[in-house]
Amino acid sequence: MASNKIRVGLIFGGRSGEHEVSLISAWNIFHGLDRKKYEVSLLGIDRQGTWHFGKKQNFWVNPEDSKKVRLNSDALAVTIVRKRSEICVIDLKDGKNVAKIDVFFPITHGTFGEDGCLQGMLEMLDAPFVGPGVLGSAVGMDKDVAKKLLLQAGLSISKFHTLRLGQDTARKISEIIADLKFPIFVKPANLGSSVGISKAENKKQLLSAIKLAFQYDTKIVLEQTVVGREIECSVLGNERPLASTPGEIKLAKGFYSYAAKYFEVDVAMPIVKAQLSKATVKKIQKLAVEVFQVLQCEGMGRVDFFLTKEDKIFVNEINTLPGFTGISMYPKMLEQTGIKYQDLLDRLISLALKRKENQRKLKRDFKA
Ligand SMILES: Nc1ncnc2c1ncn2[C@@H]1O[C@H](COP(=O)(O)OP(=O)(O)O)[C@@H](O)[C@H]1O
Ligand SMILES: [Mg+2]
Repeated sequence: MASNKIRVGLIFGGRSGEHEVSLISAWNIFHGLDRKKYEVSLLGIDRQGTWHFGKKQNFWVNPEDSKKVRLNSDALAVTIVRKRSEICVIDLKDGKNVAKIDVFFPITHGTFGEDGCLQGMLEMLDAPFVGPGVLGSAVGMDKDVAKKLLLQAGLSISKFHTLRLGQDTARKISEIIADLKFPIFVKPANLGSSVGISKAENKKQLLSAIKLAFQYDTKIVLEQTVVGREIECSVLGNERPLASTPGEIKLAKGFYSYAAKYFEVDVAMPIVKAQLSKATVKKIQKLAVEVFQVLQCEGMGRVDFFLTKEDKIFVNEINTLPGFTGISMYPKMLEQTGIKYQDLLDRLISLALKRKENQRKLKRDFKA
């Protein structure tokens, strides 16, 4: 019996440091998708980069507990291909078609999954997919390029410099120290989850912070510290995106480090609705949409800010495939704004399909 359900390919896992977080996000999306509307195929990418197709017990140790994750190899190793008008999931062993996909939902946080690589692969297949396209994903991941675009748009960001491995680092460091005030944040340009990030209080710490960041990327950014609250805002949409009510990450100590994000309890407290004046909420929402558009995003994005005591707002960054775990801010802030989890998933999928529809209307060749 032919079904008129939309066939969703949920892609998760992957080769980044956020592999496990991705499995937790995927678990929530898998359970949130309305089965009256969707037929869902699970596509897990293992840490080596092999794609697997399987049932939920292949990917989560205890299917009732999102936290116990695994990506085991008894799921079929597959690849995805286009065969004429259809996108097929192909069993690598015998070349048989095991599923067909209408739209992909990649929830692959971090390197290769969020930075335009996977998006490029899906574009090559002419497949609709959730979240920003190649450019928005790549720009959103690269802190150096993103900051340059934000500056050009006249948006406030903290003062920063960029260093590339192998360039005249010693001379540049003296220039940077003369220009920026300590403490200085040092970050790999293309990473997430605070990996490789440190806060340097003096020159000695700065040198080791630079060394550490260069272990993760050949390009790093150094930026002046902004003292302020950390405010986040969800953005959803294509041409006319909407912004959620802002939330806040309250930190008991230090900065929002990798440990504070994933292990340490009680260090970071996410507050779904930040205590802010109406005027500030409006300003943040307007800015969030502006950032989203300046950074070429579509579908979704979580924009993070710093808010100082003087009510000055600095843009920190955008996350183009934000967390979708049970406690993640992106869906929670939208829920606070009146968009329920299931409704959010529906909207994301329809935004992906609409974007592809518009793309397909474009002329590809010119005939005089
Ligand atoms: N310029 C800055 N001033 C103050 N704190 C910062 C600054 N840059 C980063 N931080 C702190 O470090 C955390 C991680 O930095 P961020 O740029 O968001 O990296 P990631 O992409 O890994 O999340 C922020 O959430 C914040 O706590
Ligand atoms: Mg961040």
